[in-house]
Amino acid sequence: MNNNWWKNAVIYQIYPRSFKDSNNDGIGDLKGIALKLDYIKGLGVDAIWLSPIYKSPMKDFGYDVSDYCDIDPIFGSIDDFDKLLEQAHKKGLRVILDMVINHTSDQHPWFKESRSSRTNPKADWYIWVDGEKGIPPNNWLSYFGGSAWEWDENRKQYYLHLFAKEQPDLNWRNPEVKRELFNIVKFWLDKGVDGFRFDVVNLFYKDAKLRNNPPKKKKTEIDFENYYNVFTRDRPETLLVIEELQELIESYRDRVTIGEVATDLGVIQYFEYTKPGRLNLAFNFEFKDVEKFSAKSFKEVVEFTEKVFEDAAWPSYVLGNHDSARFISKFSDGKLEEERARLLAAMLLTLRGTPFIYMGEEIGMREGEIPFEKLQDPLGLNLWPKHKGRDGCRTPMQWDEGDYAGFSTVEPWLPVNSDKNHVNVKRQEKDPDSMLNYYKKLLSLRRKYNALKLGDYISIETDNPEVYAYLRVFEDERKLVILNFNAESVKVKLNLPKEEKHNIVFGTHRTKGVINNLVELDPFEVLISE
Ligand code: GLC
Ligand code: CA
Repeated sequence: MNNNWWKNAVIYQIYPRSFKDSNNDGIGDLKGIALKLDYIKGLGVDAIWLSPIYKSPMKDFGYDVSDYCDIDPIFGSIDDFDKLLEQAHKKGLRVILDMVINHTSDQHPWFKESRSSRTNPKADWYIWVDGEKGIPPNNWLSYFGGSAWEWDENRKQYYLHLFAKEQPDLNWRNPEVKRELFNIVKFWLDKGVDGFRFDVVNLFYKDAKLRNNPPKKKKTEIDFENYYNVFTRDRPETLLVIEELQELIESYRDRVTIGEVATDLGVIQYFEYTKPGRLNLAFNFEFKDVEKFSAKSFKEVVEFTEKVFEDAAWPSYVLGNHDSARFISKFSDGKLEEERARLLAAMLLTLRGTPFIYMGEEIGMREGEIPFEKLQDPLGLNLWPKHKGRDGCRTPMQWDEGDYAGFSTVEPWLPVNSDKNHVNVKRQEKDPDSMLNYYKKLLSLRRKYNALKLGDYISIETDNPEVYAYLRVFEDERKLVILNFNAESVKVKLNLPKEEKHNIVFGTHRTKGVINNLVELDPFEVLISE
């Protein structure tokens, strides 16, 4: 069991810049995280994943690394990291780092050398292509807008950047690059980190022939999405190198690998990257893409995931992260948004698959309203107003009612949400019915029952399409989960064997009683029974 701790785990994502500022410069840091370890442990999660903390010019807030083996001074020092790791481990919390090795910063010494001439030893460490100024080599586009090619006056060549121009893509086809990147992974493994989240792991290799990406028939507002970006991702070589990486990481004990797979192909592709010998987990982003709040949409994702993954790989689920609008706001109609969020949280934490919680979800943090003048995210700055960027989900964590929500004593790098006086940790800790205590109860339930962590998933038919019910079964332990997605009260028939009766162990409206195949449910009611 210990080997696969990550199957039993719930992982909490921290965006360090916005979690807790210990030295009051307006930016969260490692000492800040250390101050909050008891809070995190108290939630009942098993591991933290930190968005990048390495040395970085912060053009993409850490996803542009200029030194993989050092900590950015804004976050602290290597010494602070060692202490944080040690403290976390003492408390039984594992620590997962973000490994951003598809690209570096343009300020990384490798790139500086690489761009210095066409003949230097690192000339081939990035993807350089001959061309004529003003005519990019092909139609590849950057995720952040515009061509993925940038002309370099010095080399009189183009280099590739699938993100900002300050994030040149590494050339994984060069064996020296690969060796260096593997060494970086080893450096952190030797330090004792418990695993990695691999940033855009399916982009490592691009088509060697630089073929144009085929355009889609249907056009959207975002140019990048108007292409099947097949030649800039999911190349067969990528899976091979992932297998090598996995072998290296498995030679250390008890580590986890998680892939961020950027794809249009959804679950099929998440499965591809987590087949035996490949990554342990790949984020399943399908919930994030659900447009309509309905049982049907969520259930479809789960049933499809179950079918594809079966026992061949281990699923995972997320509702949000540092790249997507807060789900609580997405499904809001101005009222009852908390009820909807509670329903989704119950689903997330009772499904078969490793759940990820993005910091702040546990207190119901909303999407921040960031005016253009305060925008920080390069994506938003480039694509405004078609895309507002990702700042809204990166606003400071709300700890208390203080001026800056207890995040800092000075004005933070992004504005604090205006609801901080009622949406904050301190207040919710005192209120037994708060979102925070709701999450804690769900998490402790998941910890307590193997059925919820490891059990099989069995769908239960109901006569109301907006009531989603399923069983989780592990050996002789059974848990029945009922989720009412209706905004009204309903009477529903569950397709349970007639004689079956289930005692309620958890619920949003009742916590006691017996369930049989006929139940009355309040709007958005959650029931878990045994
Ligand atoms: C991933 C990260 C995102 C970042 C991008 C480039 O998608 O989650 O925040 O901007 O990769 O590294
Ligand atoms: Ca700070």
